[in-house]
Amino acid sequence: MKGAATGVKAMASLNLAPASTDDYRRLAERRLPRALFDYVDGGAGAEKSLRDNVDDFARMKLKQRVMRDVSALDTTVSLFGETWSMPLALAPIGMGGMMRRRAEVQAVKAAEAVGVPFCLSTVAICSLEEVAKAATRPFWFQLYMLKDRGAVRELLGRAKAVGVKTLVFTVDLAVVGARYRDIRNGLSGGGGAYGKLRAGLIDYLLHPGWLLDVGVGGKPHVFGNLSAYVPKATTPSDFRSWVDGQFDPSVTWKDIELLRKDWDGAVLIKGVLTAEDAGAAVDAGADGVIVSNHGGRQLDGVSSALAATPRIADALKGRAKILLDGGVRGGQDLLRAVASGADAALIGRPWIFALAAEGEAGLKNYLSLVRRDFLGAMALTGVTRVANIDARLIDRA
Ligand SMILES: Cc1cc2nc3c(=O)[nH]c(=O)nc-3n(C[C@H](O)[C@H](O)[C@H](O)COP(=O)(O)O)c2cc1C
Repeated sequence: MKGAATGVKAMASLNLAPASTDDYRRLAERRLPRALFDYVDGGAGAEKSLRDNVDDFARMKLKQRVMRDVSALDTTVSLFGETWSMPLALAPIGMGGMMRRRAEVQAVKAAEAVGVPFCLSTVAICSLEEVAKAATRPFWFQLYMLKDRGAVRELLGRAKAVGVKTLVFTVDLAVVGARYRDIRNGLSGGGGAYGKLRAGLIDYLLHPGWLLDVGVGGKPHVFGNLSAYVPKATTPSDFRSWVDGQFDPSVTWKDIELLRKDWDGAVLIKGVLTAEDAGAAVDAGADGVIVSNHGGRQLDGVSSALAATPRIADALKGRAKILLDGGVRGGQDLLRAVASGADAALIGRPWIFALAAEGEAGLKNYLSLVRRDFLGAMALTGVTRVANIDARLIDRA
């Protein structure tokens, strides 16, 4: 890690270009106040599942294949009626707009420029309507089942009105995971005086780049999708308190069947890790599942998304699309995800770090790097089309 830290210093002082997910992570770490960096970077408990997500990708070896004609590579995929430049999407990230000014608007523009879907979180800073103004093609919307079902129904209507066709319904938040870094930093309950101090003014003042861009220039810091339902809330922490009380632990597959009736677009169920739950999601009417442990932010100690994917692919046998997220850190990982049985993968932390570090241009550059590495991985494993990426590319020796 020491060598890596020296690397980022050198990058900044010599004006070197970031080349990897880790470069952007370290640039974001320098720019963001500690509590915000930790909120993005951290996971639940001892962060074992978070580490497993990344390590399981790193451990999977690929087979190098040579002497095949790989002069024409096609990285495109079709998902829910739309064609994209590669099998990648930007995962929903709550409070993105606290990391960069109006981050969700910048993100949808960068995603469109590179040709990948952007998924807006229920608890984003920018609203559906603000993002739609900047978008020129349909983006995805992530929904939590809130106790206030009237708000849920209204959100569905608003999403439809701005042209959303793909709904990502997150089901792994029956309760909020215990994220120790957030507790220590005073972002969630139990931090005590020390935590509150760290989350407070001093650290924010020590990050003037962020302070000018977001702290002063990025207002209003409300949860844009929810402000109509929580009129008295004026700060992100007011909204967080409201939302934490709104996650509905009584939700079951029956609610998905009902939701299916209110939504005629595609529905993806995000947060399944077992073949049984994936099957139940499809039985309830889902068009796809996202194999996910919420980036290691919910139940620490569960299986990584990558490890869970092959058994879900075996069980679903093509009945629905399978997406995966958690631990994808570049183009080779994208190939590994598809080789493991996913139709596509999402990235969470990597995109918000690239955006936090260098805004829309940084995210565009980052996504281009992922695509370049994905092309390289396809060429050097000897496949020319995404449909031909399968388990035969994994070296199990
Ligand atoms: C800071 C942060 C906020 C998140 N907010 C949401 C959210 O609002 N809704 C949701 O479904 N998932 C949310 N997630 C989970 C991501 O959508 C995704 O599952 C996860 O980040 C994937 O792992 P990765 O970060 O290793 O790519 C969040 C993740 C992070 C890191």
